Amino acid sequence: MLEDKFGRRFHYLRLSITDVCNFSCDYCLPDGYQCDTPRDFLTLDEIRTVTRAFAGLGTSKIRITGGEPSLRKDLNEVIKICAGTEGIKQVAITTNGFKLDKDIDNWIAAGLTSLNVSIDSLDPRQFADITGHNKLDVILAGIDKALTAGIQVKVNAVLMKQFNQTQFQQFLHWLETKPLTLRFIELMQTGDNLEFFDANHLSGQPLKEQLLAEGWSQVIRDKAAGPAQEFHHPDYAGRIGLIMPYSKDFCASCNRLRISSTGKLHLCLFADQGLELRQFMQEQDETALQQALVDLLADKQATHWLQDGYTGGTKHLAMLGG
Ligand code: 5AD
Ligand code: SF4
Repeated sequence: MLEDKFGRRFHYLRLSITDVCNFSCDYCLPDGYQCDTPRDFLTLDEIRTVTRAFAGLGTSKIRITGGEPSLRKDLNEVIKICAGTEGIKQVAITTNGFKLDKDIDNWIAAGLTSLNVSIDSLDPRQFADITGHNKLDVILAGIDKALTAGIQVKVNAVLMKQFNQTQFQQFLHWLETKPLTLRFIELMQTGDNLEFFDANHLSGQPLKEQLLAEGWSQVIRDKAAGPAQEFHHPDYAGRIGLIMPYSKDFCASCNRLRISSTGKLHLCLFADQGLELRQFMQEQDETALQQALVDLLADKQATHWLQDGYTGGTKHLAMLGG
């Protein structure tokens, strides 16, 4: 099992398969994706090698991320490779949802077990304002399809002052009948979004207090469950999650490692740089890859320094899929 010097165990891999995205979310890629370096993303063979290496070290869950992972034409193959690797029990994807309605059934047939979709507002105009795309309707239809198919669905909404602060009641109403987890994520500062961050960051703490005052109860979760706090309410089919990366002890429950779309290991979302591992993937050398992973994990730090405005090498989260 991959374990660091603070006793944290890493059973969860976030695997980015492209950094390209077709949306232009205000906090992430406000000017859209900039293609300034040659694209050379992990091949299916490289993905197979890295998946096997992690699984052999105790990883049981893989989340496929981007950019927008469904922009890759071979996404179904990627899901199949992950789902077919011995030891991998959960295969998840994080998507902006633009292809969900069309492709979710294929993804499930390939072995997908859970789905995260980003929806920062349930108001179609506001959604289009934030993402640059008027696609809320088709994304919501895709979510309904996924729920009907019976896979676990989480929806991510980034908290932002100038946008969705007024949207809370609408989100709550939606959750009355939707059996999914809606997770409010505090906006994080990245290298590129300082001005937007300063104007829009909202703490999740008042939301937590409001939820508790309105009869929501915090779910006691397993230590291995990761950094979201979850709440449920008897009158609602859905749950609410809060992700507060600026809160004390956020990193104590870190259970994940990240591989970028060009094969670098990121020990933290806000690490200074990715660590080069691609050579082992190209050579399909699982053993050498595993040894390198164990060695590099020794450098994982106790926490990020976000609260001090230190964002490491992360210009925006499309680089690493969050
Ligand atoms: N702060 C918080 N969340 C972000 N995401 C992207 N950029 C940021 C940011 N700066 C979210 C997306 C998506 C998830 C992968 O990360 O909305 O839901
Ligand atoms: Fe938006 Fe995600 Fe694309 Fe960034 S990567 S622009 S957050 S959809």
